Amino acid sequence: MGIDPEIGKRAAAREAAGLVASGMRVGLGTGTTAAQFIDQLAARVRAEALDIECVATSERTAAQAAALGLRLAPLDGVLDLAVDGADEIEFGTLRLIKGAGGALLREKLVAQSARRFIVIADRSKLVSRLGGRARLPVEIVRHGAERTCARLAELGLAPVLRAAPGGLFVSDGGHHIADCTLPADIAPQTIDTALRTIAGIVETGFFLSGCAAAIIGDEHGAARAFDGDPVSAAGLAPVAAMLRCLELPKPAAPPRLAVMGVSASGKSTIGLLLADALGVPFCDGDDLHPPANRAKMHAGQPLDDEDRMPWLHRIAMRLGEWRANATGGVIVSSLLTRRYRDLVRAGAGPFTLVHLDGSRALLAARIAARRGHFMPASLLDSQLATLEPPMADEDAIVVRIDEPPVSIVRRVVAELARRQGG
Ligand code: A5P
Repeated sequence: MGIDPEIGKRAAAREAAGLVASGMRVGLGTGTTAAQFIDQLAARVRAEALDIECVATSERTAAQAAALGLRLAPLDGVLDLAVDGADEIEFGTLRLIKGAGGALLREKLVAQSARRFIVIADRSKLVSRLGGRARLPVEIVRHGAERTCARLAELGLAPVLRAAPGGLFVSDGGHHIADCTLPADIAPQTIDTALRTIAGIVETGFFLSGCAAAIIGDEHGAARAFDGDPVSAAGLAPVAAMLRCLELPKPAAPPRLAVMGVSASGKSTIGLLLADALGVPFCDGDDLHPPANRAKMHAGQPLDDEDRMPWLHRIAMRLGEWRANATGGVIVSSLLTRRYRDLVRAGAGPFTLVHLDGSRALLAARIAARRGHFMPASLLDSQLATLEPPMADEDAIVVRIDEPPVSIVRRVVAELARRQGG
């Protein structure tokens, strides 16, 4: 049975509705998740006789709020809180893409008018990099819309004018929307800046700053608030804080690391902690799978070599970007075979592997303890059979996973410093 996103949306919405207090002016977002928030907020207002004033981000939202008896006001002053959904939420930075519902202009007006802007979503909206899944909606004036689209196409954004029954979509503000595909190799800020030089563009769906927190609901109905810190987002804050106190010997240059290992070896945990300790960006390699691979994995079909090629290429590109920008970075990915690692090296240049090595018994016990995850033991065995540990000519640091995360991270950072003569 697939994951039901409605449970996560509802859980996040309930948590956000709990933030509202009497006397507040509250911005109401648009979309299915925001609609859940509005329902829950109205229920609280009725049950607790809260005195609040609301500002809607769309006609749709205004109609829902009015029908539920919420008091509406125009956007004419500062709001205490705005709560909205999003199409993508970048893990660790809280940069967003919004506007699949076509309300981005008013959504941004409201978000920027709030002392605290909070985004709510189910887990499917979390991404490691903006633009991997969602298209970027760009609101454009109707006059000369085709010409504006041509200019968007010149930027490589492959715009498609959004359709609606009977013609083109028209926003509450009377504009069209061009849905754009984001090139993976250009930073969102660069694209946003370029877009703003084109006459005819009213607003973009990038919300690159100002989001104070994301409340993410999971399929079990639990919700967790994330701020912009990937380590606290993953619940690793105490471990990271301990590592920060240890004053680790830092490598002289920011390293580029690929943390590899089979399932349940702890790649994400160790990867996030390493990125935090080294002060470099983090990327979960699984988020770089193209949509076709996701669909296959979702359907429980194994990926073959051909499927993995575009994914390995994207991993290489990410490591390559970190090399070009000299930022360093940590990517986590199974990279079980020598051939895959060679392919990534061919595209990215040299990087250091961190291999998380553990016994089958420990890995199996971890898998069994994972809440809400089902992974047959046969899959672990097939991964262990596929695994080719790093060879002597590969730049690799091998650590045993039976050590606590603090020790593993200390060991890796010290080894990096030693190798760089730090
Ligand atoms: C509306 O214009 C959008 O920005 C929505 O907030 C966004 O599309 C999320 O919608 P759902 O909550 O329906 O996924």
